[in-house]
Amino acid sequence: MSAPAENHSLYHNLKLGPLTLEGNLVLGPMAGYTDRAFRALCSDAGASMTCTEMVSTEGLVRDSRNTFNLLLVSPLERAPAIQLFGSEPGTFAQAVRRIPSGRFAAVDINCGCPVPKVVKTGAGAALMTEPLKIAQIIRAVRSETDLPVTIKIRTGWDDRSLTYLQTGELAQDAGAAAVCLHCRTRSQFYTGRPDYAAAAKLKAALDIPVIVSGDLFTPADVKNVLMQTRCDGAMIARGAIGRPYVFSQTISLLQTGAFTEPALKHKTGLFLRQLELMAADRGELTACREMRKHVPFLLKGIPGSARVRQACSVAETIESYKQALGSL
Ligand SMILES: Cc1cc2nc3c(=O)[nH]c(=O)nc-3n(C[C@H](O)[C@H](O)[C@H](O)COP(=O)(O)O)c2cc1C
Repeated sequence: MSAPAENHSLYHNLKLGPLTLEGNLVLGPMAGYTDRAFRALCSDAGASMTCTEMVSTEGLVRDSRNTFNLLLVSPLERAPAIQLFGSEPGTFAQAVRRIPSGRFAAVDINCGCPVPKVVKTGAGAALMTEPLKIAQIIRAVRSETDLPVTIKIRTGWDDRSLTYLQTGELAQDAGAAAVCLHCRTRSQFYTGRPDYAAAAKLKAALDIPVIVSGDLFTPADVKNVLMQTRCDGAMIARGAIGRPYVFSQTISLLQTGAFTEPALKHKTGLFLRQLELMAADRGELTACREMRKHVPFLLKGIPGSARVRQACSVAETIESYKQALGSL
C-alpha cells in the first residue's frame, strides 16, 4: 500500500532524465513577464527551474534579432529551459540546432498557448488536437539535442476533446523527460476552475514526472495541489508576478509547515532590483515602462497605495520609482 500523501515529503529534488532539479517548484513561462531579470529574482527565491518566454522556431531559424534577445539567461538560474513554439517537426529540429550550446538545461515544447495568432498557425494549444504530431516534434527535437525535452500542455482544446492522457502517453513513448499540465482547456484560456483531477489522472498514468499548473497563487495552493494530485512538482506562474518570494514561502511551508510574509521594504527592494536588472538589459526608459504592469501585483492588498500606483504608472526613471515606492 502506498503511503498517504501527507507522509511523503512534498518538497524534493526532481529528476528530468539526466537532469536533477534542486527542488520541485518551477516558474511558469509567461510571455511579456518572465524575462531574465524576473527569472533571476524567482531563482534567488528558490525556483528550481525557470523557462524563457516562448521562442518561435521560425524566428530562431530565420535568425531574428528579437528572438535571440529572448535567449538571455541569468547566472542565478539553476536550470533554465528554453521554450519553443511552432508547428512543424522539421522546423523544431532546425531551431534546436540554433540553440546556443551550454546555455540551457532543457528544451520545453509549448502545446498550450491559446492566443489566436499562435493557434491559427497550428502551434501552441492547437497541437492538443494532434497528439501524434506532438510525439513527432519530441522525436525531432531529441534527434538534435541531448538536453531533456519536456512538454507543456493543456487538458485539451475544449471539454469535448480532452487529449491530455493520450498526449502524455505518446510523449512518454517519444522520450519526453516530463510533462507539465496546465489544467485547463484552450477554450478556457486563463479562467474557470483548473481541473486538478486531470493532473491526478495523468500522474497515475505516466512514469515520467508530471508537473501541475493552474491557479497556484499561494504556498497553501501548492501544498494542497501536490497532496491532492500526487504530482511530482508544481508550477507557479501569475502568482510570482510582483511576489517572487512566493517560492521561498512555498519551500518553507512544504518543509516546515509555516512561512512568513516579507516586510514591505523587502518587497519593494525586490521590485527595484528587478527594475535595475531589466534596465541593464533593455535601457532605463524601456525597463521603467515595462515594469509598470508589475506594479499592481506588487501593491495588491497594500492599503493606501493608490497614489503610489498612480505615480508608478507614469514613472520613466528608476529614481522616480524609488521615490514613489519609498513613500509607502
Ligand atoms: C501573461 C501570460 C503569459 C503566458 N505565456 C506563456 C508562455 O509563453 N508559454 C507557456 O507555456 N505558458 C504561458 N503562460 C501560461 C502559464 O505558464 C501558466 O501555465 C498559466 O498561467 C496557469 O498558471 P497560473 O494560474 O499559475 O498563472 C502564460 C500565462 C500568462 C498569464
